[in-house]
Amino acid sequence: MTKVNQSTLQLLHTRRSVKAADLNAPGPNSAQIEQLLAAAHRVPDHGKIGPWRFIVFTGEARTQFDNKLKNIYQQNNPDASETLIAHNSRLLSRAPCVIAVIASPNLEHPKVPQWEQTLSAGAACQNLLIAAHALGFSAQWLSEWYSYDKAVDTLLNMLPNEQIAGFIYIGTPSQAPQERARPALDERVIYWNNNEDLA
Ligand SMILES: Cc1cc2nc3c(=O)[nH]c(=O)nc-3n(C[C@H](O)[C@H](O)[C@H](O)COP(=O)(O)O)c2cc1C
Repeated sequence: MTKVNQSTLQLLHTRRSVKAADLNAPGPNSAQIEQLLAAAHRVPDHGKIGPWRFIVFTGEARTQFDNKLKNIYQQNNPDASETLIAHNSRLLSRAPCVIAVIASPNLEHPKVPQWEQTLSAGAACQNLLIAAHALGFSAQWLSEWYSYDKAVDTLLNMLPNEQIAGFIYIGTPSQAPQERARPALDERVIYWNNNEDLA
């Protein structure tokens, strides 16, 4: 019989996101980033297409990208307040490491619908969260405005078939997060039984 992996279950049952602004140094080192990417890269993938790719931001690269995001934000929002401009001037710099997951589906695939390929990219995001926690970090999956901006897409050299699945912010939290309110599980589950009236 397969050995029960209690620590994995424990992690899945207790994992919480931590706000990007509360993710401090240290972040993952190079070897740990490789471990994160390896975990993200082996998600279920109908048709062995690999419909995702990753862009890693650490150190100075975050500041450089933040400066470009700030310019785009100001072009989009010429009347923005100083407070909003300040916030949008240091987005990726909130955490020591940020990994953008780009959904990169093959739209011409004869069998596998785009939906399934997009789900696979979402699974890559979730694997990044879980692997980050397994390494002792915390993380948050954010889209925010820059996941849906054409100028940002151009900045990231994205192809017409591609879409940002999310930015995974990773770092060390100052304190452990509390559990949050969640939908009641039993309201989201039925056990299918053909003999029962489920209405
Ligand atoms: C695709 C996706 C995009 C998200 N984008 C945002 C976002 O832009 N801003 C935000 O505050 N939370 C966003 N979230 C929610 C957080 O990542 C996180 O799920 C939430 O804060 C608490 O979740 P937890 O159960 O992991 O603690 C997003 C979640 C998903 C799945």
